[in-house]
Amino acid sequence: MSTAKQEKIQEHYDAIADIYDNHYDLPHGRCYHTHISRHLMRSLPHGAALLDIGCGTGLFIEKYMSAGGNAVGIDLSQRMIERARLRCATSDFMIGAGETIPFADNSFDAVSSLLVFSYLRDPESMLREAYRVLKPRGTIAICTLGKKLITRGIPALYLISEKMKVKHVVMKDFGEHYYDEGEMYDIFSCAGFTNIRVTWCSFAHIDMIDPLFQFARKVEPFVERRIPQLAYNICVTATKPEEE
Ligand SMILES: C[S@@+](CC[C@H](N)C(=O)[O-])C[C@H]1O[C@@H](n2cnc3c(N)ncnc32)[C@H](O)[C@@H]1O
Repeated sequence: MSTAKQEKIQEHYDAIADIYDNHYDLPHGRCYHTHISRHLMRSLPHGAALLDIGCGTGLFIEKYMSAGGNAVGIDLSQRMIERARLRCATSDFMIGAGETIPFADNSFDAVSSLLVFSYLRDPESMLREAYRVLKPRGTIAICTLGKKLITRGIPALYLISEKMKVKHVVMKDFGEHYYDEGEMYDIFSCAGFTNIRVTWCSFAHIDMIDPLFQFARKVEPFVERRIPQLAYNICVTATKPEEE
């Protein structure tokens, strides 16, 4: 990733660290974050050693730890890491980039990453690093923005809000990339992963007002299974094979 882009992301998250949880840890946001977390946790080993890349304020680690296990989080933003330490006092957090993970080979049973992958200019490096630090038969599970109908207008919204200097947790133009199934299969298999499974999740959007949000939540499981073109997060789980 270019240093300028990485600095822009880091500065943004340092600036909004104190309000981040207003977005994802209040009723609508909590429903959304819990939903994507459960979606990923279904594929991850429970009670294992987990690395969460781009851990933010520790929302996923907190949920993962409630089922046992131990987790370490890395993130570019020092202020997000400070919030994560307050949230999960028993976990380890450190400043670090997903593209240069500060851990030895074969250290973790599982790697997770929520709402980060689309920001990476060099996702191949992140996957290479995730592969390196995973133990053989370890699992990776990520969730990010998918290339679907509902996400098409997002870059324009980011750009407008940035020009208008709106301080919003997610409104920022980082040149995100929106992935489809084929791209995900390609980059995960190029990194050496097997058992690659791509699924779609999320239909109830945080910015929907009630009762629309409640309705969207009710139909969410149906949409994800039967009309995935309306879901906006793409999730990938994959395994590091036993033999290299
Ligand atoms: C939308 S937040 C998601 C935070 C958390 N995963 C969650 O689910 O709430 C994106 C986070 O990714 C971090 N981030 C972005 N690019 C990163 C990179 N290359 N390496 C590590 N962290 C990164 C940001 O600092 C920010 O905390």
